Amino acid sequence: MPHCCTLIPGDGIGPEVANAAVRAIEAAGVDIQWRRAELNQAIILESGKTLPKYLLDSLRETRVGLKGPVTTPVGEGFQSVNVALRKTLDLFANVRPVRTLPGIKTRFDDLPIDMVIFRENTEDLYSGLEHEIVKDVVTSLKVITRTASIRIAQYAFNYARVNGRKRVTAIHKANIMKLADGLFLRCCREVSGDYPEIQYKEMIVDNASMQLVLRPETFDVLLLPNLYGDIVSDLAAGLVGGLGIVPGANMGESYAVFEAVHGSAPDIAGQGKANPTALMMSSVMLLIHIGETQAAHKLQAAVEAVYREGKHLTGDLGGTASTEEFTGAVLRAIQ
Ligand code: NAI
Repeated sequence: MPHCCTLIPGDGIGPEVANAAVRAIEAAGVDIQWRRAELNQAIILESGKTLPKYLLDSLRETRVGLKGPVTTPVGEGFQSVNVALRKTLDLFANVRPVRTLPGIKTRFDDLPIDMVIFRENTEDLYSGLEHEIVKDVVTSLKVITRTASIRIAQYAFNYARVNGRKRVTAIHKANIMKLADGLFLRCCREVSGDYPEIQYKEMIVDNASMQLVLRPETFDVLLLPNLYGDIVSDLAAGLVGGLGIVPGANMGESYAVFEAVHGSAPDIAGQGKANPTALMMSSVMLLIHIGETQAAHKLQAAVEAVYREGKHLTGDLGGTASTEEFTGAVLRAIQ
């Protein structure tokens, strides 16, 4: 029986990297029947809906999605599709493993970076509750709830336990946002009590940003509310070579949508330059989720082999290979 998954290629570089990831999954020997659901600016503007019904119906049926990025207009226009999708399907945990790839030169040469970021995915300043009270005066509501904070903390600590991780660092700004971030921290502390074997640490987000740049190798599992999680994820991606290589998963009780950390990269869209590694590594996470562990390891090993060899790197990592050339190298490595 083939697996059934929803494929949302997205826009910008989305279709290019999605196509590469699907080919890599097929080469790893997994039979997936893809339900393709298009989503881009034009469709959203034409339908007037952020999330078309066919897309939600498909995800509700397959329960698993592989998603490329979708462009959101800056400072105007429709609500972010990504935020809407995460909230609608209650994909509360955004999981982003940030690891040094073999062969990639970073500023931290001898110190491998291996951290996993857990970003709360449904509330905080991403609630979209903004109001212009009077002209030129705007408020934006930051919503933090006990339910969502406990849930993401349990998810992160449980991951740490199951995967033999040693430390969870909760990142906050509770010195200023005493109520909102204070509640988030209290929930993290409470959950940490159920995991005595895992060291629990707290760090203010500005200091955490500096520590990440100075000593990234000291971080293990990071636990953050939505906004800090979003920003720190890109910062962390920069430590290991950039957005082209960092994967992600949006996990809920019933559904899972796998997507890279990066956006639609309009500056390189349609030029065949995009690095598909991030979505390929997101596909590794998808394969593990659907029980295709062997194929997942095969695909991961193939991507790592291409990096170890270092002959087919894309432009973001200092190479000259196109998306197609990189993908070809991964497919050959799988064989
Ligand atoms: P971005 O992540 O699209 O690009 C930032 C920089 O990284 C650009 O220079 C880009 O060329 C580079 N980059 C990103 N992915 C790459 C890849 N796979 N290979 C090589 N280089 C890569 O961030 P930006 O420019 O801030 O956002 C562009 C659009 O994407 C916005 O509309 C934003 O809302 C949307 N976005 C969507 C996301 C999603 O669908 N999950 C996530 C983040 C942003």
